[in-house]
Amino acid sequence: MTARPGLWITLEGGDGSGKTTQAELLEAWLGDAGRAVVRTREPGGSEVGQLIRDIVLHHRGDIAPRAEALLYAADRAHHVATVVQPALDRGEIVLQDRYLDSSVAYQGAGRVLDGAEVRDLSLWATEGALPDLTVLLDLDPAAARVRLDSADKPFDRLEAEKLDFHTRVREAYLALAEAEPERFLVVDAAASARSIADLIRARVSPLL
Ligand code: TYD
Repeated sequence: MTARPGLWITLEGGDGSGKTTQAELLEAWLGDAGRAVVRTREPGGSEVGQLIRDIVLHHRGDIAPRAEALLYAADRAHHVATVVQPALDRGEIVLQDRYLDSSVAYQGAGRVLDGAEVRDLSLWATEGALPDLTVLLDLDPAAARVRLDSADKPFDRLEAEKLDFHTRVREAYLALAEAEPERFLVVDAAASARSIADLIRARVSPLL
């Protein structure tokens, strides 16, 4: 990806790790500092993406693993080309819930697909676009499950996966963070929302 005037931050973590809360807090803080922020997410950050989101999260029955990986990659390709890159070109801050690390962790954790291949697929889809910072909210899947249960919402296809699947997702995320320490900030998602927000701000400040 070519040099860009904006700043691109992605949030990653298991279901129930508190990404939405942190995205809201960070958006408010950046807004108070007078920065233009685009809040977006995958899957579903564009109109085409909404249609893809509906398939990957709500289709009844199985989707072949390679088809699922391609659907996420298709969503990502369109999202980066039509939402993320234009905002970065305008010099704005893109604050995004989930990106290619989600694909490596989730699609790779099913054990059928190779994580490196899944990553290469996404990099092809986005012409190699990588965020400036990726915040990983790390949480024990059993603790996340308690949070999701208390939220009282029906589970989507991936949330309904078994605990050992989510344990593999967590391990994959931690391995990704270890491989790219300069891109990742790993925070303990069991800490208070306020203290997590402080850690994120400290890492974001010098990037502004
Ligand atoms: P979403 O409702 O956005 O949940 P969350 O609040 O946890 O982000 O659902 C996104 C789901 O899609 C989540 O279970 C992870 C999954 N997912 C993948 O499996 N691969 C991907 O590439 C992405 C972006 C998401």
